[in-house]
Amino acid sequence: MTIRNILTEPNKLLRQISQKVDKVGIEEQKLMDDMLETMYAAKGIGLAAIQIGIPKRIIVMDISKEEAKKPIYFVNPVIKNKDPLKATYEEGCLSVPNQFANIDRPSRCEVEYLDYDGKKQILKANGLFATCIQHEMDHLNGVLFIDYLSKLKRSIIIKKLSKLKPNSAIL
Ligand code: NI
Repeated sequence: MTIRNILTEPNKLLRQISQKVDKVGIEEQKLMDDMLETMYAAKGIGLAAIQIGIPKRIIVMDISKEEAKKPIYFVNPVIKNKDPLKATYEEGCLSVPNQFANIDRPSRCEVEYLDYDGKKQILKANGLFATCIQHEMDHLNGVLFIDYLSKLKRSIIIKKLSKLKPNSAIL
């Protein structure tokens, strides 16, 4: 397993729409292993492949707070049945280092995806899980959480990040 470099905003790659995966094979599994290790090393709870520069529809997540790790791997995830009721969480992002904002998202949803072995799965998500999977799904569509903020707030954040040297804030 290899720890990969995490791209940070502003970076055009982060705005790219990721492509569907045809088949979950050894190459994809190796990518998921690297993504998970990269996410743990950066102390994140979710990571999309595009954040390490790979435009594939793959996400890894682990929202467990205990020492026992509970990774979940999502290939080609699709979100369904979003609850009209919203929940607010203060979100951050490994690609938007040291910036946080309250974001409203549907409080519950279902996610259909292929797992690490390429098997079809359906999960019902609520709480932090629902927020996290929706945040990561946005990455696959080139969307960052700061896109939900006002233009002014977003431009202030991007200006700040532009002044940082690559990787200076995610060590
Ligand atoms: Ni993120």
